[in-house]
Amino acid sequence: MQRLEIPERILRRLRSAKQVSVLTGAGVSAESGIPTFRGADGIWEKYDYRKLATPQGFEDDPRLVWEWYRLRQIEIGKARPNRAHEVIAEMERHYPSFSVLTQNIDGMHRRAGSRNVVELHGNIWRMRCDRDHTVIDLDAPVKDIPPLCQCGSIMRPDVVWFGEQMPLRETEEASRAARESEVILVVGTSAVVYPAAALPILTRNSGGSVIEINLEPTDITSYADLSLFGLAGEIMPALWRSIR
Ligand code: APR
Repeated sequence: MQRLEIPERILRRLRSAKQVSVLTGAGVSAESGIPTFRGADGIWEKYDYRKLATPQGFEDDPRLVWEWYRLRQIEIGKARPNRAHEVIAEMERHYPSFSVLTQNIDGMHRRAGSRNVVELHGNIWRMRCDRDHTVIDLDAPVKDIPPLCQCGSIMRPDVVWFGEQMPLRETEEASRAARESEVILVVGTSAVVYPAAALPILTRNSGGSVIEINLEPTDITSYADLSLFGLAGEIMPALWRSIR
């Protein structure tokens, strides 16, 4: 059982907060068996992101990109939310205002019961047509490779690729939540991809507290009010027990 050292003033703030946000990255889904992007066996150690996660890569070979996304859909479809996802969903039911700001496209937060989820980088279970703006929700890995829209165009995964902007509505919603939150928990992100990585800075600049949960130090560690190092699936339940 993880015993956490949490300063009294931070505990008080966590217990009295009316509005809390949590920014999550791939690390929150790692214990569900979904690989992260960076680090020892990260996705980008094995695959070339330029071929698989850029508009140019998709234009060059949509079939290759869809084969890869279908593999990830199959892998994610087999995964289950872990204790970190479940605790985040419990926290949402406790606090008067709670926002989940996720970089993940795996849909795990909603499957764990979170409701107010802002998907900053899209969702692997959605595809879209950039010609007639059809959007299709998938409940299973895509069948046809590449999938065609009824207008005849090739549909693309509805995710944010390198070099693309985050969706405007989600960006505004996440920025507002980060600015208004008294506390932001940052769980399982290397904090190297912007603008998502800037969200905790908005909280801090508005006088809020930043609490980081990660296996190791990141760029956020230098300004976090508290960094808790270890597995999110162990730290989040322990943190939650300290707050309730
Ligand atoms: N518990 C806590 N933290 C963990 C765990 C775990 N079990 N496993 C890994 N981590 C941490 C790692 O230490 C790392 O800091 O999670 C982080 C994962 O970092 P990345 O793999 O870079 O994932 P992420 O930060 O979400 O990447 C951001 O980059 O490739 C793009 O669009 C993609 O949304 C993604 C973005």
